Amino acid sequence: MNLADAAQTRHTVKAFEPGRTLPQASVDQLLSVLHNSPSSVNSQPWHYVVASTREGRARIASAAQGQYSYNSPKILHASHVVVLCMRVDMDAPHLDAILQQEERDGRFQSTDARSRQDQSRRNYVDLHRYELRDVPQWMEKQVYLALGGLLLGASILGIDATPMEGFDTRTLDLELGLRERGLTSVVLAAFGYRSEQDFNAALPKSRLPGEQIFTFV
Ligand SMILES: Cc1cc2nc3c(=O)[nH]c(=O)nc-3n(C[C@H](O)[C@H](O)[C@H](O)COP(=O)(O)O)c2cc1C
Repeated sequence: MNLADAAQTRHTVKAFEPGRTLPQASVDQLLSVLHNSPSSVNSQPWHYVVASTREGRARIASAAQGQYSYNSPKILHASHVVVLCMRVDMDAPHLDAILQQEERDGRFQSTDARSRQDQSRRNYVDLHRYELRDVPQWMEKQVYLALGGLLLGASILGIDATPMEGFDTRTLDLELGLRERGLTSVVLAAFGYRSEQDFNAALPKSRLPGEQIFTFV
């Protein structure tokens, strides 16, 4: 599928067919999109919890009750559900871990280059910490960027998907033990096979006109 077709034909699936599991090779490609997602100064302020079992999906669905119960069947009937999480802080151990990984991956020709990269990243972190005071929002943006790639990637692979913000973060964080790991849940993405109840599949896509959203200069 070409890119324009993937963008136009993807839609948010409103009902999945229960009991159908995606091929592992497709799941691996989706996880590769997440793993390789770009982030500001390569900060990678994320973690992903992947549920592929009935029990795993039920644990995630426990956060989709009450006002969010409309999302529960999607979570339970999907093949895989990814919880996209963000770190709660961009702390020194995380920055050190990134630098060491970049070194292991052969990113630096010299110790000078290594120091420059480290300093430049820390400058950005300090900018967001002390001047902009928006470290959480900055980190969250990187997670949403990953979500965008994931949804487009799924469409290219012909995989049905549903992004979901409709869940209780506190419930899910506690259920998955995220907070003790310095993480919090941001958004869910469910993947699988649409069912005949997926009313959104038959509806036309609706977007504001191109003239309104693009300015060419
Ligand atoms: C960040 C995000 C959160 C969303 N949360 C939900 C949700 O909780 N439940 C749901 O059914 N759809 C959810 N949606 C789907 C949007 O309503 C949908 O993307 C939008 O109406 C455009 O339709 P389309 O995705 O079919 O093109 C979400 C979409 C995004 C990008």
